[in-house]
Amino acid sequence: MTGYLPFRGSFMLDTVVLAMVAVVVLLAVSLSLAGRGRVRAHRNLQLGLAIVLGIAVTLFEIDLRFVTRDWQKLAEPSPYFASGWVHRWLAIHLVFAVPTPIWWAVVIVRALRGFGSQLAPGAHSSWHRVAGRIAMVLMLGTAITGWIFYYVAFVA
Ligand code: HEM
Repeated sequence: MTGYLPFRGSFMLDTVVLAMVAVVVLLAVSLSLAGRGRVRAHRNLQLGLAIVLGIAVTLFEIDLRFVTRDWQKLAEPSPYFASGWVHRWLAIHLVFAVPTPIWWAVVIVRALRGFGSQLAPGAHSSWHRVAGRIAMVLMLGTAITGWIFYYVAFVA
């Protein structure tokens, strides 16, 4: 069962590939909001993103395990399948995709505790600025390597 893009991806694969475009754009917006001191909007956007991503990843896992099941069948026609690059890009993608949600959860829990309800700059600020940037780079890496994997597996 393939999705709605004119490639071999499943419905959920197509959806996640497109959703990651929105995620990257919203991360840039969120970074800019925080940088301009609009921290309440930044917090709300980050919490919203985390909830939507949590739901999307759950649906994605359900799709791959129970609905599409054998994504390898969809990837087999790719010239990169036999050469091993489909699996290599999946491995590279997982280097980003596995730690990212864990690091995000740490950043969010620490931010909720560290900034309190006033969101005033304070002792937590410097850790959060560094950790938040790392979290955004990890998410960007997840998106870029995910797009490359989608291309070598389901487009080529
Ligand atoms: C994974 C989720 C999050 C990421 C990736 C993230 C990322 C960032 C980044 C990169 C900055 C620095 C912006 C700059 O200096 O230009 C920042 C600032 C800030 N963030 Fe977040 N953030 C996240 C979640 C949150 C949450 C949940 C809250 C509130 C509870 C929050 C509150 C703040 C505040 C108050 C600042 C300003 C810090 C200061 O300069 O004192 N963030 N965030």
